[in-house]
Amino acid sequence: MGHDIYFPFFDGLFYRLNIRPVFSKKKLDDIKNRKWVSCPHFINHYSILGLLINFQEGAEAIRLLKLNKFYFSGWIYDRSIEIFLKRIKQRVAGYILQHNIFPVLDICCGTGKQCHLIRIHNQNTINIIGLDSDLKMMNYASLKYPYISFICADAANIPIKIAYFKGIVISYSLHDKPPELRTKMLDEAKRLLGPDGKIILIDFEQPWNRVSQVGRFFTYLIERTAGGEHFRNGEQFLKQGGLQAFIKQNGLVEIERHNIGIGNSSIVVAKFA
Ligand SMILES: C[S@@+](CC[C@H](N)C(=O)[O-])C[C@H]1O[C@@H](n2cnc3c(N)ncnc32)[C@H](O)[C@@H]1O
Repeated sequence: MGHDIYFPFFDGLFYRLNIRPVFSKKKLDDIKNRKWVSCPHFINHYSILGLLINFQEGAEAIRLLKLNKFYFSGWIYDRSIEIFLKRIKQRVAGYILQHNIFPVLDICCGTGKQCHLIRIHNQNTINIIGLDSDLKMMNYASLKYPYISFICADAANIPIKIAYFKGIVISYSLHDKPPELRTKMLDEAKRLLGPDGKIILIDFEQPWNRVSQVGRFFTYLIERTAGGEHFRNGEQFLKQGGLQAFIKQNGLVEIERHNIGIGNSSIVVAKFA
C-alpha cells in the first residue's frame, strides 16, 4: 500500500518517509481542474506539500498550487485569531524546546504559525512538520514559511507509516471536530509517536475561576462567529468536560499543565499510558 516519498529540506538533504495514499483520484482531479498555472519555483521551494497517490501526481498538484499565494481564510486568521494566540504558541514552542521533543508534528496546523515559532525558538531546526487537510491553507503556510515542511492530509489517516516523531502538537483542533474524529486523531498521534514521545494538547476547558469565566465569554463569541458544526462540536466538547476530561477519557497521562485563564484553555504536556 505504501509509497516512498521524499521530503526535500532546506539544507539539501532528503528525508525519507514511508507514505500511503491520502487523496482519492477524484480529489486530485478536482484540484487539477481549477486550472492554476504552473509555477517554475517548485524545485527551489524547500517545503513540500501534499503526498498524494504517488509522487508524480503529488508533485503535479504542488506545482499547480504554487501560484495561489493569497488565501483569504489564512490571511484573516493571521490578522485576527493568531494575534490572540501568539503568546500561547510561543509558550508551546518553549515547552517543546524544554522537553526536547524533536522531530515534532503539528496536527491540524492551520496557518503554520506554531511550526514557525517552534523553528525560531530552536535555532531554526528543520525537524518540524505541519499537517492540515486544507490544501489551500497548506499552500499558504508553505509559501509563508518556506523552510518548514507541510503535508496536506486527513488527521484521521496520516500518510506517515513509521513512529517518526518524539513530539506531537494538537492546538485548538480537538474542540471543533466531531467526537469520532478526535479519537481517530489521537489514535494516529499514538501510532506516530516513538517511545518516550510526548503530546502537547492545547484546547478549551470548562471555566474554573472568574478570569476563565471572562475568557469563556470571549471565546464563546469567537466560536459563535465560526458557527455551524465547529460551534456545535465546541459546545459538546465543553459539555463533556473540556480538555481535562478528554485527556482522562483517552488514556493520556498529564506530565505538566499550564492553565490560561483569559483564554479559558490549558496547555497540557502528556504521554500515552
Ligand atoms: C481551529 S483550526 C486550528 C489551527 C491551529 N492549530 C491553531 O492553533 O491556530 C483547526 C484546523 O483543523 C483543520 N482540519 C479540520 N479537519 C481536519 C482533518 N480531518 N484533518 C486535518 N486537519 C483538519 C482545519 O483545516 C483547520 O486549519
